[in-house]
Amino acid sequence: MNILLTGGAGYIGSHTYVALLEAGYTPVILDNFSNSHPAVLGRLQRVTDRQVLCETGDVRDTAFVQDVLRKHSIQAVIHLAGDKAVGESVANPLKYYFNNLGGAISLMQAMQAVDCKVLVFSSSATVYGDPASVPIAEHFPRSHTNPYGHTKLVIEDMLAAQSAARPDWKVAVLRYFNPVGAHACGLIGEDPAGIPNNLMPYISRVALGQLPFLEVFGGDYPTPDGTGVRDYIHVCDLAEGHVAAVRAMLGGSSGMQVNLGTGRGYSVLEVVRAFEQASGRTVRHRIAPRRPGDVAQCYANPGLARQQLGWQARRTLEQMCADAWRWQSGNPNGYRDDA
Ligand SMILES: NC(=O)c1ccc[n+]([C@@H]2O[C@H](COP(=O)([O-])OP(=O)(O)OC[C@H]3O[C@@H](n4cnc5c(N)ncnc54)[C@H](O)[C@@H]3O)[C@@H](O)[C@H]2O)c1
Repeated sequence: MNILLTGGAGYIGSHTYVALLEAGYTPVILDNFSNSHPAVLGRLQRVTDRQVLCETGDVRDTAFVQDVLRKHSIQAVIHLAGDKAVGESVANPLKYYFNNLGGAISLMQAMQAVDCKVLVFSSSATVYGDPASVPIAEHFPRSHTNPYGHTKLVIEDMLAAQSAARPDWKVAVLRYFNPVGAHACGLIGEDPAGIPNNLMPYISRVALGQLPFLEVFGGDYPTPDGTGVRDYIHVCDLAEGHVAAVRAMLGGSSGMQVNLGTGRGYSVLEVVRAFEQASGRTVRHRIAPRRPGDVAQCYANPGLARQQLGWQARRTLEQMCADAWRWQSGNPNGYRDDA
C-alpha cells in the first residue's frame, strides 16, 4: 500500500519513511528540499536496502501533487511538509502562512480531486499555547503565541471543516511533543541548517566543540531544579506513532486528534546530565534569563493515543541521548559531507 510522505526528506519524515517500510507499506517522498539535504535519500537507501521513491517538488503546486497521487496510486498521505521555526515565524510571518497554510490547502485540493481521503497531519503541542495545567490532554483549550503555532491551529480547523463537509474523509491529527534522538543505525538524524533552535542538536554541537556553551533559558521556574520541563519523545517512537495512525485510518477509524508524547517531563539540566553520560563529554552551560513565551512545564497525557492507536512511546531518555550522539558524532557536518 502506497503512502505519500510530504516533507519526507526532513527529520521526522525520514524516520517515518523507515518505520513505514518496516511495517510493510511503500512510502513515497514528496519534498522541495527547502529545509533538507538530498543526500538523505542515499542514506535511506543504505538503511532500508531499497530504492527510494522520491518526487521533488512543492506541495503548494496542486497539479504536481495531483500527478504524484495518481502516478503512485496513493492510499493515504502523511503531511509533514512545512516550516517549523517559531522565532523565524515571528520575524517572517508571511513565509509561514504562505507555506504552511498554502501547502495544506493545496494538498487537500489535490487529494479531493483524485479522491484520496486518508490524511495524517503533523500538528504540535504548540496548539495548547500556555496550558493551565499538566499533563496536557486533547480536550484542553487551544491557543497560539506565535504565527507558527497559529498555522497549526488553523490547519487543524481546516481539517475539521473538511471532515465535517466530507464524512468519508479520515483525518488523524497528531500533536507532537518534543521529538529528539535519531535512528539507532547512526545514518539519519536531525540536521538543522545553521545554529540549532532545538535543545538536543544544540547540546550535541556543544559536546562536539562546535558551539562554546549552552544557554539555559530560565533557572527560576517552579520546577524541581528551576529549569523548564518538556516531554521529549524519541523520533523512532514518533515515527511508529505515524504508522499506527495510518493503520487505524485505513482500518476504518473515523478520525482523531491525539497527543504523541511520553507523558514524562524532563528538565533541561536532566537532559544535559543524561547527554553527558551518553557521550562521555562535558556539556558546558550557563543559566540565562527566561525567554518570553516559554512555559515552565509542558508534557502530555498520552492516554488517548494508547487507547485509540494501541501505541505508546517506549524508548528512554538515555536512548534518546545515545542515539542523538551516535548520529552527531558520526556525522559532525550532518549530510553535507556526502557527495
Ligand atoms: N521537529 C519538531 O520539533 C516538531 C514538533 C512538532 C511538530 N513538528 C512538525 O512536523 C513536521 C516535520 O518536522 P521536521 O522536524 O521533520 O521538519 P524538517 O524541516 O526537518 O522537515 C520538513 C520537510 O518539509 C520540506 N518542505 C517544507 N516546505 C515544503 C513545501 N512547500 N513543499 C515540499 N516540501 C516542503 C522541507 O524541505 C523538509 O524536508 C513539520 O510540519 C513540523 O511543523 C515538528
